[in-house]
Amino acid sequence: MSKFESRIEPTPPARDATFWEERYQDGTARWNLGQPAPPFVPFLGSPEAPLPGRIAVLGAGHGHDALLFAEHGFEVVAFDFAPSAIAVGTEAARSRGLSAQFLQRDIFTLPEEFSASFDYVLEHTCFCAISPDQRSDYVNVVRSILRPGGNLIALFWAHERPGGPPFGVTVADLRQYFAPYFDFLMFDLASDSVESRKDEEYLAYLSLHTDPN
Ligand SMILES: C[S@@+](CC[C@H](N)C(=O)[O-])C[C@H]1O[C@@H](n2cnc3c(N)ncnc32)[C@H](O)[C@@H]1O
Repeated sequence: MSKFESRIEPTPPARDATFWEERYQDGTARWNLGQPAPPFVPFLGSPEAPLPGRIAVLGAGHGHDALLFAEHGFEVVAFDFAPSAIAVGTEAARSRGLSAQFLQRDIFTLPEEFSASFDYVLEHTCFCAISPDQRSDYVNVVRSILRPGGNLIALFWAHERPGGPPFGVTVADLRQYFAPYFDFLMFDLASDSVESRKDEEYLAYLSLHTDPN
């Protein structure tokens, strides 16, 4: 554990798939926007949009973002450890005729199965959902499953309120976690966040260093 991780006590329920599954089942999944995160829409429609490739979506939930990327030609593999989320995402892909895969996995197991397998990783409200003492492990998961030169596309929710999930993180913390391994090609305050996350979301495009050292 790094010294900035030690500021926050680990919260065991966030590690537990049952904690998340119960929220999907009892209809209290308040993070679920019911649509793709708005900042991803203009990003994918812009001239700077990344070329389609194979993308892993971490903590995909009902798959709104995953299916947006599938619509834009990405080969999507979406991961979540809550079975309800996987079932809803799978059915949404089927009913919309999109070929995205939804796999029930704990993201921390992915390096064993998906080493160097993806051109992109997509992050949206997974980093703030995991227990803060797992953040270095999260960065290692992203590094492990990306192909050399792969990219992390992220909408980071950076707030400093106590408690969680969503657990608080600062922009400085995000830089400390990712900068040793990634070039920050873009890291911009999102202009079109939903009201409840306004001025707290950063749209980021990070490129994995080609030199692993
Ligand atoms: C805050 S929700 C966000 C879901 C989705 N990204 C969205 O924006 O609607 C966090 C999601 O990550 C999943 N999750 C948390 N920890 C996980 C882990 N270790 N492995 C797989 N999924 C995880 C939860 O089940 C939940 O669906």
